[in-house]
Amino acid sequence: MDPFSQTILAWYAEYGRDLPWRRTRNPYAVWLSEIILQQTRIAQGTAYWERFMQRFPTVQDLADASEDEVLRLWEGLGYYSRARNLHAAAKQIMTMGAFPDTLEGIRSLKGVGDYTAAAIGSICFDLPAAVVDGNVYRVLARHFGLSTPVGTAEAKKEFTALAQRLLPEDRAGAFNQGMMDFGALQCTPQRPDCLSCPLQPTCNAFRTGRVDLLPVKKPATAVQERRFNYIYVRFQGQTAIRRRGPGDIWQGLYEPLVDTVMPGLTGHLIKSGVKHQLTHRLLIADFYLWEPAEKPELPEGYFWVKETELDQYAKPRLFVLLLEAL
Ligand code: ADE
Ligand code: SF4
Repeated sequence: MDPFSQTILAWYAEYGRDLPWRRTRNPYAVWLSEIILQQTRIAQGTAYWERFMQRFPTVQDLADASEDEVLRLWEGLGYYSRARNLHAAAKQIMTMGAFPDTLEGIRSLKGVGDYTAAAIGSICFDLPAAVVDGNVYRVLARHFGLSTPVGTAEAKKEFTALAQRLLPEDRAGAFNQGMMDFGALQCTPQRPDCLSCPLQPTCNAFRTGRVDLLPVKKPATAVQERRFNYIYVRFQGQTAIRRRGPGDIWQGLYEPLVDTVMPGLTGHLIKSGVKHQLTHRLLIADFYLWEPAEKPELPEGYFWVKETELDQYAKPRLFVLLLEAL
């Protein structure tokens, strides 16, 4: 075994985080944690994982649920395609008869890419597949002094091959999770703790004074801005919402009148310039309240609901912010 890998395994045995999904090798529980952690921090993700495990203890329970309920439980985590894929994959697994235990089988689940398949496969079945995420890039770039810009196809190839070469075949799960934790706790993006680091004697970045220069980042893609007007209509304790159809990240979620032009619409501004940051887009919304004297005709797709029953509908983050502002 490479001395680097030995050090990671020894470090992980001593300092690895005690996370609830690490106390099991139940692939359903591990898969759920990996999907949640794709775009969510552990501190926030843990509570959601616990709620999902409580409400859906088995993959069968998840498969039997309605998509609405899954989306509702997901509310607040964002990137809702993850929840829709999770639900679809639960049905896939029920059709397969059991949770797949090969890399190709795991990779064939909706919402599971190379990273997630390697994570689940190595953790649950000790399949020899290296995970390569931001933490792994950083640790490898620094320790081995690699300056290929992260985010390029070339870097993906180079770092994947290196991680795969370093992977101890019979300790794949521990090594992968060790790399994640080492990047999260020791070799951190800002101010890594090089002085107490067990890899310091062999670390290229430390020796050459390039810790702050590695990993090299590709120039960021410009963030686009999109502006919306959200209009909350209130008539006799009811409001109007619609369910978004296929085609974007809010598919299946419920929203109020958005950028609506209607006869007689005269809302008053509640809050302006509310921001919500997505990976490549900054959403900026103005919130209006409209209290018409007579019940208006709704645009196509909208329907009336009791305001007190709004919590039964999964909503995009901006709609939740509007309700808080009200
Ligand atoms: N992030 C994604 N998967 C993880 C895992 N298994 N442990 C810690 N952080 C993670
Ligand atoms: Fe990371 Fe510093 Fe350790 Fe090198 S010495 S691996 S830069 S923490």
